Amino acid sequence: MVPEERVLMTFDACAPLERRAEQALAFAESQVRSLITRHPDYFPLYTEEGKWQHGREAWTNWCEGFLGGMMWIFARRGGDLFWRERAEHYSRLIEERQFDTNVHDLGFVFWSTWKRWFDLAGDERLNQRVIQAGRTMELRFNEEGKYLRSFVAPESCFIDIMMNVGIIFYAASETGDEDLLRKAREHCLTTRRYLVRGDGSTAHEGIFDLQTGEFLRESTHQGWRDDSSWARGQCWALYGFGTAYRLSGDARFLDTAERCADFYIERTPAHGVPPNDWEEPSPRRPYESSAAAIAASGLFQLAELTRDPDRADHYRGYARRILDTLLTPEFLAIETPGWEGILKHGSYHERKDLGVDESVMWGEYFFVEALDKLLGAPASS
Ligand code: GLY
Repeated sequence: MVPEERVLMTFDACAPLERRAEQALAFAESQVRSLITRHPDYFPLYTEEGKWQHGREAWTNWCEGFLGGMMWIFARRGGDLFWRERAEHYSRLIEERQFDTNVHDLGFVFWSTWKRWFDLAGDERLNQRVIQAGRTMELRFNEEGKYLRSFVAPESCFIDIMMNVGIIFYAASETGDEDLLRKAREHCLTTRRYLVRGDGSTAHEGIFDLQTGEFLRESTHQGWRDDSSWARGQCWALYGFGTAYRLSGDARFLDTAERCADFYIERTPAHGVPPNDWEEPSPRRPYESSAAAIAASGLFQLAELTRDPDRADHYRGYARRILDTLLTPEFLAIETPGWEGILKHGSYHERKDLGVDESVMWGEYFFVEALDKLLGAPASS
């Protein structure tokens, strides 16, 4: 492999969905291999004009599991020793993050890496890292407001945390710790009550009174307005409430996941890819592809969880429609010379002008995860 040169790959845009998904996974492997050859042990968040290394700010460090997470998917699908060795290496590089109290993202970091490693290897020592990450997340719990605080301030709760609370449910069930379970459940109920609206849309952030725990107001960082609907937050909710139901069995969380999914489907154009915020008038860019990738993977999960077979078909069909759109050269970078990412047209932080209309590391991961779900387990696994 010559790192500076992109391996030329053919892509048949007219092929059936599953065939295009296989081609996209081969392309994803090639892009990740180029990235880690060119920049070993480097954890980028987003590209700048299609290039991963640019030295611009991260805002917060939440994406370090996604590179290793893709490697675990490649290793499991292909039984490839190269990916297995690299996946272990990239997981070890982030091992100390199990004690990181600065971020609310340890679910992202450890579920994609050490949990996948444990699932493959079954070694209890690996599981202990996942459980510790859940215990570290628990320290964010605010007893007055009954929520896990975000990284920005003690009074702040983000919708994004719904994608990370699962690791607390998991640690609770692995250890039998009832207090862990209580905190995870209460965080979900608080989020459901104050951040999920009557129409199934979500607020990015809730602000609480630190003395009384009273909910004060909605807010946002990456959406258009405090009371608007940031697309990626919506996807964190539809996927995260589904996971909370899967891990707790609490039917209220399934109901919330379905309402969030229904809002996404109702408000998104027929191609399945939303803008950064549904309420922004005349958005500068039509697409936030990472939200679509998260939605596709979350909808595949929800199709397995929902109790109504018609809903299951609806969610699975819509996830396939999203992928049908993402598996075109407009989104897949396979025909874009010099582009180092996999999926184009993602956005990180429009207000700060970080990673806008670029490839973003979580978009890559959830896209690969959705393709993996579409194709199902390989015959050898
Ligand atoms: N901080 C998580 C996100 O940008 O979605």
